[in-house]
Amino acid sequence: MADGQIIAGYLAPHPPHLVYGENPPQNEPRSKGGWEQLRWAYERARATLDELKPDVLLVHSPHWITQQGHHFLGVDHLSGKSVDPIFPNLFRYSFELEVDVELAEACCAEARELGLTTKMMRNPNFRVDYGTITTLHMMRPQWDIPVVGLSANNSPYYLKLDEGMEEMDRLGKATATAIKKSGRRAVLLASNTLCHWHFHEEPEIPEDMSKEHPQDYAGYLWDMRIIDLLRQGKTDEVFGLLPDFIQDAFAEIKSGAFTWMFAAMGYPNLPAELHGYGTVIGTGNAVMEWNLVKAGMAQAA
Ligand SMILES: [Fe+2]
Repeated sequence: MADGQIIAGYLAPHPPHLVYGENPPQNEPRSKGGWEQLRWAYERARATLDELKPDVLLVHSPHWITQQGHHFLGVDHLSGKSVDPIFPNLFRYSFELEVDVELAEACCAEARELGLTTKMMRNPNFRVDYGTITTLHMMRPQWDIPVVGLSANNSPYYLKLDEGMEEMDRLGKATATAIKKSGRRAVLLASNTLCHWHFHEEPEIPEDMSKEHPQDYAGYLWDMRIIDLLRQGKTDEVFGLLPDFIQDAFAEIKSGAFTWMFAAMGYPNLPAELHGYGTVIGTGNAVMEWNLVKAGMAQAA
């Protein structure tokens, strides 16, 4: 068996508004659209993902919270209804997905090898969180690629930031080792918003885009600075700024997915492809891609 490899990573945020705006048959609420810049960004990301032909999509979501350790979806087939507890008016989504349990178990074991507390999630009736579902739907609405789902232990929130991020770094390295041994061609999805200052009241018509704008000017400037550096491939500089960015912009990347993804890819100083940026209820969201095949760092299908 040839070595497996990570072929790309995407920053793929999960505002459920994007699913609501698209009106797929799986989602109950109906909209008149909205958040088009971000939905068009995801259209571009869907096209490049399709070209990559991955065997598996790995997604780390801040909204599957497991305070005791890092958990992995561990049931072959999961289905049910995922509801956003904050926006149940926008997101009540009937999901059905296949899990790559073998790879999930390998990631779980490798992470334990590196000293992390880990666990396989074996509840057949588990309701997959809206973060995982939104990111996966926006990247691959066909649902025809198996998935590895990772929970957020959220250690950066209750340990010191650097200790928590160090755990996410180890989780990323363990993920990379498991992928390599698996022979799979894998794509990583970091399900994170950038600036996370948000409105405290929803507009009467949620998709009324005349009401949508950044909640916080300083947070917006932070987003532009981080995106600019990522587009230039200045990954080291971004990770140097991360503690200040997280502090000042209340950035959701504190939950660790972004660090996990970059650790797994080996922190390449590779210019990102920006597919688009937009705000959702005031928060800053970028869809970005690091294509390791195009960069000559992984092999094409
Ligand atoms: Fe979130």
